[in-house]
Amino acid sequence: MKQISQINTPINREIVERKIEELEVPEIGNASIREIVQLVSSIEAVTGDRYVRMEMGVPGLPAAKVGVDAEIEALHNNVAAAYPRIDGIQPLKDETSRFVKLFMNIDVKPEGCIPTVGSMEGSYAAFLVCGGCRKERDTALFIDPGFPVQKQQLLVMGQKYETFDVFDYRGEKLRAKLDSYLSKGNINCIIYSNPNNPSWICFNDEELKIIGDLANQYDVVIIEDLAYFGMDFRQDLSQPGVPPYQATVARYTGNYILMISSSKVFSYAGQRIGMIVISDALYHRHFPYLEERLKVHGFGNAIVHRVLYSLTSGTSHSSQYALAAMFKAACDGTFNFIEQVKEYGEKAKIMKKLFVDNGFIIVYDTDLGQPVGDGFYFTIAYPGMTGPELLHKLLYYGISAISLGNTGSTKEGLRACVSHVKRDQFGDLETRLKQFNSDFAEI
Ligand SMILES: Cc1ncc(COP(=O)(O)O)c(C=O)c1O
Repeated sequence: MKQISQINTPINREIVERKIEELEVPEIGNASIREIVQLVSSIEAVTGDRYVRMEMGVPGLPAAKVGVDAEIEALHNNVAAAYPRIDGIQPLKDETSRFVKLFMNIDVKPEGCIPTVGSMEGSYAAFLVCGGCRKERDTALFIDPGFPVQKQQLLVMGQKYETFDVFDYRGEKLRAKLDSYLSKGNINCIIYSNPNNPSWICFNDEELKIIGDLANQYDVVIIEDLAYFGMDFRQDLSQPGVPPYQATVARYTGNYILMISSSKVFSYAGQRIGMIVISDALYHRHFPYLEERLKVHGFGNAIVHRVLYSLTSGTSHSSQYALAAMFKAACDGTFNFIEQVKEYGEKAKIMKKLFVDNGFIIVYDTDLGQPVGDGFYFTIAYPGMTGPELLHKLLYYGISAISLGNTGSTKEGLRACVSHVKRDQFGDLETRLKQFNSDFAEI
């Protein structure tokens, strides 16, 4: 391995170091997503060099037209002048219930289908109410790696959480691991994303059944984050009412909240709308401690009439019409939303190969023996380097990502997001990775 000082790196190292210093973060390898965004933008501005930017998880495709058209029409119909229903406009509630039936094969009444200002508000509301149901149940459990902002939400609320990295606990091993937390009696909910941000692993039915069985046994709520709904491209999940369906814990327990974001599947992140789908059983559950504290009857009412009312008093009226139209078109079979986002998987396939051909390894590489799918994110490591060290060095090569340490992973490596990398950058990526590998490979 060469000393970095002897190498002529693609990006001027003095400038990179100066910008890192200006950022005033203790260790750049552990910086947050937003800090890396700021850093890379400032290096690009000074050097004029274009980075292969893989740090941000934002959609890179145009917003779904059917949504945009419906939203414009709704605005012309003067919906902006009226407060929306807090629990959602009826067409959206009905279409969501239909959507989960046709794409997940589960039955949920429209009543439990509630719009939120992005899934971010959905998880905030869910954590708040799950954490207030029983006094002794004061802790959320993350099946990590995961989306860091959800832990920040608990921090802001002053609620506790525990977490473990699922890497070594796939399949049947998950049962004993979850049991070791649940048997202590302090866990009120379990949260995970599927497909998973950052690793793109997908729990299979065996694992979802384990999670569902334990939710029944210990009476905990499962918050299933479907921000990347249908995007396990290894199967065709795009046909309404036709199996296979999006995998879900809802098949194994009635104790669930699903979160369906419009941000990635419909490229609708800017309008900040998602749905929480509360099972019929949970919606009507009564928890004496919650009722005493929030002066309200029932779990669903606590979410709608206490938490969402207090936070945002509903979700923007016009975006509700947009989402209703997108769900309707998907259900009618006139809009194949999964086809639209397959581009992410195709780019991931090419990019993963470029990394692997140049000495990198995929960290989370399998789902119980099956290679992990190609999608919005993948995880990479370089032998002999810690995640933070790798991130720091890649910045000299015009490549940016975030450290896996930020996501609750115990593995050394980085999360790479494909959405903002343009196909015309693959050549740059290849050249830079080749140089990186020749500069750092152990001989
Ligand atoms: C796993 C996961 N959950 C939730 C969100 C937030 O979704 P929204 O934009 O609907 O708030 C994201 C966004 O990146 C995500 O990756």
